[in-house]
Amino acid sequence: MRGTGFQSIVVLTGAGISAESGVPTFRGPDGLWEGHRIEDVATPQAFHRDPALVQAFYDARRAALARVEPNAAHRALAWLDAEWPGDLLIVTQNVDDLHERAGAARMVHMHGELKRAFCLACGERQAAPDTLSDGPACARCGAHGRLRPDIVWFGEMPYHMDRIEAALAACDLFVSIGTSGAVYPAAGFVQGARHYGAHTLEINLEPSEGTHVFHEARHGRAGDLVPLWVGALLEG
Ligand code: OAD
Repeated sequence: MRGTGFQSIVVLTGAGISAESGVPTFRGPDGLWEGHRIEDVATPQAFHRDPALVQAFYDARRAALARVEPNAAHRALAWLDAEWPGDLLIVTQNVDDLHERAGAARMVHMHGELKRAFCLACGERQAAPDTLSDGPACARCGAHGRLRPDIVWFGEMPYHMDRIEAALAACDLFVSIGTSGAVYPAAGFVQGARHYGAHTLEINLEPSEGTHVFHEARHGRAGDLVPLWVGALLEG
């Protein structure tokens, strides 16, 4: 396609793409996520043990979305989505809504979304109210206090895996942006894409745990590097 020779692209994004928007990454220098150990707020066991803490944590993250905006990297991927004539799938591990607010449409949230909830009583997935801590009613079955964040916690199965696996098998370019490569299955997508013959590129602030697996790596801020990469691809 165009001068690049690529037809089908899969882009994987992680917390690093939202860092310049002011959304904290997971594995900061102190190893804490907004003051909490990940296992205290991002496992089904944590929710069972202390649902009030976990609900309050995600209520705060959901409220914080109103104070952040998409950055140049989100906008560049939305531009790619609008202009790329071949296949494209943007797979985000992020639970914020910055890709879609920038205008990206060919995308999936593999770890769920802050703005969604599901009902533990009837299983219905639905738009999340602003707060879940106060036990709102399920939009479908009416049960109170049974909505949990529609977030994939450790030990749970990521979403859209069939579609993602099919896209990885068919792509000829795989690009990973702003992810530490510490959490599977996403960390293994690069090997999968390579196995099927794709060219693989990492864009990250620093070398990730899997940098050596990529054909090519560019290190720096996503807000600088992603627009350059997209511009070159679309003009290539
Ligand atoms: P991490 O916090 O583990 O990694 C973020 C990566 O982004 C790091 O490698 C940073 O160096 C890089 N980074 C930071 N600022 C950047 C910038 N301005 N430009 C480019 N890169 C930058 O976040 P994830 O890899 O997304 O899962 O974490 C993966 C999963 O672990 C999350 O989806 C979440 C978490 O536990 C669940 O909640 C299930």
